[in-house]
Amino acid sequence: MKVLLLGSGGREHAFAWKIAQSSTLEELFIAPGNAGTRAHGTNVAIDTTDFEAVKAFVLEKKINMVVVGPEDLLVLGIHDFFLADDELKNIPVIGPDKEGAQLEGSKDFSKKFMMRHNIPTAKYATFTKDTLEEGYAFLESLKPPFVLKADGLCAGKGVLILDNLKEAKSELKNMLADAKFGEASSRVVIEQFLKGIELSVFVITDGDSFKILPEAKDYKRIGEGDKGLNTGGMGAISPVPFADDTFKEKIKNQIIIPTVKGLKSEGINYKGFIFFGLISVKGEPYVIEYNCRMGDPETEVVIPRLKSDLLDLFEGVASGTLSERDVLFDDRSACTVMMVSGGYPESFEKGKQIYGLNAVTDSIVFHAGTSSDGPAVMSNGGRVLSITSYGKDLTVALRRSYETADKIEFENSYYRKDIGFDVL
Ligand code: AMP
Ligand code: GLY
Repeated sequence: MKVLLLGSGGREHAFAWKIAQSSTLEELFIAPGNAGTRAHGTNVAIDTTDFEAVKAFVLEKKINMVVVGPEDLLVLGIHDFFLADDELKNIPVIGPDKEGAQLEGSKDFSKKFMMRHNIPTAKYATFTKDTLEEGYAFLESLKPPFVLKADGLCAGKGVLILDNLKEAKSELKNMLADAKFGEASSRVVIEQFLKGIELSVFVITDGDSFKILPEAKDYKRIGEGDKGLNTGGMGAISPVPFADDTFKEKIKNQIIIPTVKGLKSEGINYKGFIFFGLISVKGEPYVIEYNCRMGDPETEVVIPRLKSDLLDLFEGVASGTLSERDVLFDDRSACTVMMVSGGYPESFEKGKQIYGLNAVTDSIVFHAGTSSDGPAVMSNGGRVLSITSYGKDLTVALRRSYETADKIEFENSYYRKDIGFDVL
């Protein structure tokens, strides 16, 4: 099979690493990819948001399957573009269509969906600039902290958690009346604040049946002890120690099954990953958010724990035969530690040469933001390398990732030294 994988981050490097191990792979292309994905296939410099360019490449190389990493392409409707085109409609796309991608693309859609299907989530109401006054009144009816969410995609920046009412009202006005996040904040969801511990659960579905992948926990803040600004993710672990069988059974019965059934009952033919951002409130799971793709950096621990052939699962998704496939997992723990550019998530420099990658023996280094300059590997983003290790337990896995991080150098690099601190 000839596969085109879209994306350029650590998630896509982990996918490429796994797809390259498949017995049915003939050729793998990654667009645009990064310096790490080169080891597993051919990087292709196309603008993936230009669907006509993607089409031309797919036809030229006789691609048999397209795997979509990031949400923006799904929300833009790449799957629908394939289905609507006579030359592309028989080439499967792994990732939901535009309607399914609304689970992530619109907070209002996802909240209404959860209400319709009785899926536990925080109480909420949605406002527009015409209902700003009602929005203020709703805020007054809540206890702090106040949770404001821009309806649309905001590259992870659209959620504000505010401690005082005055500030919450002023931010609500910024979002609705002054378009703080542009069109994405033309609607704002205000939610009840839930207090608990978060984890991420992933499912792959063919629209009918589903397989649950190993759960993970990511560490979003830049600073140790979960302090400082939010980032794309500074590290992750899997499994998550507090997610015992009883809790996972609740997640399956109260959240996963109603979600997959709900999509089907609404006529949404969802083919791809569903990422459940969950919070445990006194042992009861609630959905904080859905994403229509895998997480990053969670993929860098979840995919290494998958023993089964990933392309075989994708073929099951494409042909609606996922229920006939086996999924086996590695019992070992996995962790990933993200090395980032100094300054991230605020301003930072790119183009720093990375040394020491060849000395790595006990970890898998997934590239998150790198480019190549001949044989040299250069930093090319805020998140640069995702250092994944296995261990008989989390402590061993973390020790390995930190030993590896010690061997790798680039100017002004930074990583958190406390990944897993809250569960160990
Ligand atoms: P989201 O983009 O919806 O995942 O929100 C980003 C982060 O904000 C989440 O990972 C949570 O840490 C926090 N958050 C979002 N919604 C709530 C809520 N209702 N209660 C408490 N924390 C929340
Ligand atoms: N790590 C969180 C995300 O991928 O959205």
